[in-house]
Amino acid sequence: MHCVRKVTEDLWWVGGSDRRLSRFENIHPLPRGISYNSYLLLDEQTVLFDTVDWAIGRQFLENVKYALGERPLNYLIINHVEPDHAAAIEEILIRWPEVRIITTAKSVQMMGQFGFPAGECTEVVKEGDTRCFGKHHVTFYSAPMVHWPEVMVTFDETDGVLFSADAFGTFNALNGVLFDDEVDFERDWMEGARRYYTNIVGKYGGQVQTLLKKLSGLSIRYICSLHGPVWRSNIPTILEKYDKWSSYTPEENGILIVYASMYGNTEAAACAVASALAERGITNFSMYDVSETHVSYLIAESFRYSHIVLACVTYNLGIYPPMLGYLEDMKALNLQNRTFALVENGSWARRSGDLMAQFLSGMKNMPVLDPRLTITSSLGKDCAPAVDSFVDTILASLKED
Ligand code: FEO
Repeated sequence: MHCVRKVTEDLWWVGGSDRRLSRFENIHPLPRGISYNSYLLLDEQTVLFDTVDWAIGRQFLENVKYALGERPLNYLIINHVEPDHAAAIEEILIRWPEVRIITTAKSVQMMGQFGFPAGECTEVVKEGDTRCFGKHHVTFYSAPMVHWPEVMVTFDETDGVLFSADAFGTFNALNGVLFDDEVDFERDWMEGARRYYTNIVGKYGGQVQTLLKKLSGLSIRYICSLHGPVWRSNIPTILEKYDKWSSYTPEENGILIVYASMYGNTEAAACAVASALAERGITNFSMYDVSETHVSYLIAESFRYSHIVLACVTYNLGIYPPMLGYLEDMKALNLQNRTFALVENGSWARRSGDLMAQFLSGMKNMPVLDPRLTITSSLGKDCAPAVDSFVDTILASLKED
């Protein structure tokens, strides 16, 4: 049976959710699933905005057929050709062979690469081009690298609807709800929005800033992303978050503590630091075991906090591998402007502190506080002054921000 929602008088959500996929892009865990959104405009012409991942293809086709009724499908606008949105193009063309595809030149090229058929009639559009489908006039804006090079977003001038491709998307399945005001977004969804943005688009902050500037002149009443809820009530909230994330500005003056521990001694040091912070009245921090926490969660938290404490044992004379993986991901995603404090441990050759400092020096504006906390095997009773000094330094830096 169909499962659709009405977005506006003329626009239907015809997407669906996958609750069985364990990892997005075969990397990022999806404990609450993911939605693939597609939208159908019923004007004088009928227009489908993007398709879906093939995993939900049957549901999607039922939805489109139901919302169309007896009408033909006239246009398919493709904002993004990544297979989680373009895999069902062929099925659309089989059922509605007369449909005209509207997309970018780069998109046509990439569709060919993936083996997605472009159909008989493809109209290539570029920045600033417009189309009229009856009552609704749309304008196309290029958005390269948000999240792939071919991406565009489409703005329906008539109803103020932005079809934003991956931008403003969120992990998690839509369980009947569709709009941001139907959920407690801050409590239940922000973590999914942050983890989605930072891991999927986080590398391309400059390009996201360019898109935000283009959007700043538009009267946006709805944001229809390809993942997660439709924004209609709290649009400034997500725009503000995107501005912070894409400019690599911390959301909060607080501390992320990530530890890498083999036998619990480096973990004990991280706990001692956390307790000392709490004792001084600082409670806005989170602590994670790098071996137990998927790096996508660590990346999201790294974009959130202003300060990061890395507590790491030395391993094979190097950085403990899961910690090195986290640092490499941080670098790949272009994180900047965080302040670090380092805890190093080693039983005969303490190398992790120097190596982590060296790694961070290769990134943009990632200062490391002095002194670091050095442990030989375990934190002895005589280490209390060093812990105090370490925590006082973090505290002073937090107050500066
Ligand atoms: Fe949701 Fe870049 O695909």
